[in-house]
Amino acid sequence: MSNMKTTETKLTPFARDVLTGLEKENKSLPSKYFYDEEGDRLFQQIMNMPEYYLTRCEFEILAEQRNEICDAIGTTDAPFNLIEFGAGDGLKTKLLLKHLTDINADFTYYPVDISSNILNELKTGLKVEFPSLQVNPVHDDYFGALRQMEYFNKRRNVTLFLGSNIGNFHYDEAAVFLQQFVAGSRAGDMLLLGVDLKKDPKVISLAYDDPHGITAAFNLNLLTRMNKELGADFNPADFRHYTCYEPASGEVLSYLISLNDRQVYFRELDRTVSFKKNELIHTEISKKYTLEELEKLALSQGLELVSHFMDNKNYFTDTLFKI
Ligand code: AVI
Repeated sequence: MSNMKTTETKLTPFARDVLTGLEKENKSLPSKYFYDEEGDRLFQQIMNMPEYYLTRCEFEILAEQRNEICDAIGTTDAPFNLIEFGAGDGLKTKLLLKHLTDINADFTYYPVDISSNILNELKTGLKVEFPSLQVNPVHDDYFGALRQMEYFNKRRNVTLFLGSNIGNFHYDEAAVFLQQFVAGSRAGDMLLLGVDLKKDPKVISLAYDDPHGITAAFNLNLLTRMNKELGADFNPADFRHYTCYEPASGEVLSYLISLNDRQVYFRELDRTVSFKKNELIHTEISKKYTLEELEKLALSQGLELVSHFMDNKNYFTDTLFKI
């Protein structure tokens, strides 16, 4: 990125992360910035696509095994906080919320999300569907929310981290996340962790390279977001979505590829970024695990395995851990 007159004081976190990511030799952008209003809309379309099996598998687990899951959590034992990292539209969580309200469990729901747009939608929807539910939205990223967790109150924390959101961390980042989670937890707290499992590579590849072009639009929307928020002059047609699944590591890596040599000017930053033909911007990792790898990761950070709840194809697990 050529250095002009920008003063790097008062940059938003997005501007700062874009500058850092596009200045690197191997350009990258954090996937958490997918989720502006348009990104939320496209992600909902992804979750409705037949190729994106993850949502349906987890829906099936929560719909069919919610009694067993709630029993294993001990949701009628004492009042608790139900914290959800990356709550999104809450579609799957509503299955659990319905069950918990039906059995008169005493809890407060803390949905955590990076998108204020989706949190507002969720809060409004929950008011209509569950008028007596106590909801305290937390607008933050995962690490910010972890720092807030211990201040919630003195009740037991039951945390949901669903949707294979943990797959958007590299293995080492996932370990640090779990380490910080455990450090901020107390004995008896619980974690229900949704994880996409390794399976036929073709099934996984198709979920991230769908024939409808929805995942491509989701990825390319990052360019539009930089145009809107940082005054950049990207033409999304100058870039292509590319994704590949490496079955041994279990990593789906997503990229935007520049189709030509070009320069992009960021008005708000007064910076110009050069792209060479075929140069990549790495935008996302979506990591898949085996049950053994998942257990190893979690147990190495001090979590205790309670139970795996899986769909009937064994594509996905919601695994319950205890501190
Ligand atoms: C939110 N996250 C778990 C999704 C995933 O599967 O990695 C985001 C996504 N990216 C492309 N498709 C869906």
